[in-house]
Amino acid sequence: MQIIHTISELRAWRKTAGTVAFVPTMGNLHAGHMALIREARQRADQVVVSIFVNRLQFGQGEDFDRYPRTLEADAKLIEAECANAIVFAPDERELYPHVIQQYKVEPPAIQDELCGAFRPGHFRGVATVVTKLFNCVQPDVACFGKKDYQQLFVIQSMVEELNMPIDIIPVDTGRAEDGLALSSRNGYLSAAERAEAPRLYYHLARMKKAILGGERDYAKLAAEVVADLRIRGWSEIDYVETRNAKTLKPATHTDHDLVILIAARLGRTRLIDNLEVAC
Ligand code: PAF
Repeated sequence: MQIIHTISELRAWRKTAGTVAFVPTMGNLHAGHMALIREARQRADQVVVSIFVNRLQFGQGEDFDRYPRTLEADAKLIEAECANAIVFAPDERELYPHVIQQYKVEPPAIQDELCGAFRPGHFRGVATVVTKLFNCVQPDVACFGKKDYQQLFVIQSMVEELNMPIDIIPVDTGRAEDGLALSSRNGYLSAAERAEAPRLYYHLARMKKAILGGERDYAKLAAEVVADLRIRGWSEIDYVETRNAKTLKPATHTDHDLVILIAARLGRTRLIDNLEVAC
């Protein structure tokens, strides 16, 4: 494993590499990231993992400053999973030398829905940094987790519309034994919050069962979830929505590929999760 900090060094390496599979991350890696790296290993000669906490995708009052920076531990995990991986870990000055990024990638209206309605500018920040990272790494394929379903959708449509020559590989969400989706932000949870957090997956699984059983009143199902989470002390429930899994438009009664998406706050920690339903 080799750690590269500069774009020029990465470009020099890229000229000598064969096909490249890319896993963009913000570090603080966990088993979910390892699944992305394992998938990447199957897809190309070389794996590049980027580690960069992207200020542009954090809103005011969000956790940019307290987001864990754990490069040494991350490098060890990557090495154990993929001994010859390249870790691209630029600092802010390397990726944003003008401090203010003047050219930004503007996703379409979906950027203002679901998570975007609660995190203005978030998906612009993601699309912009991912484009920059793609330009630095020049991968053949890139792996993204389905846990950030809306992010995956934005990246897939961006790559398609901007004719980027990169295959986007969606990777299933890694879960703890009790169902909680693996996330770097789980580390913020207190012991009591950690015990409560799988409630999101419990509700997703319950909604999926109801839909598979023929229920199509998605608003009623969502209202039941919101009521339960409120009673149990979740501080904010941003949304519980059933959408078309391919278009992310609100689900209609004739859609067969659905995704249920949920975002809620437990104490200070915002958690998201989703579950696909083929019905
Ligand atoms: O999913 C993430 O970790 C980030 O949004 C990404 C894709 C690395 C962009 O900063």
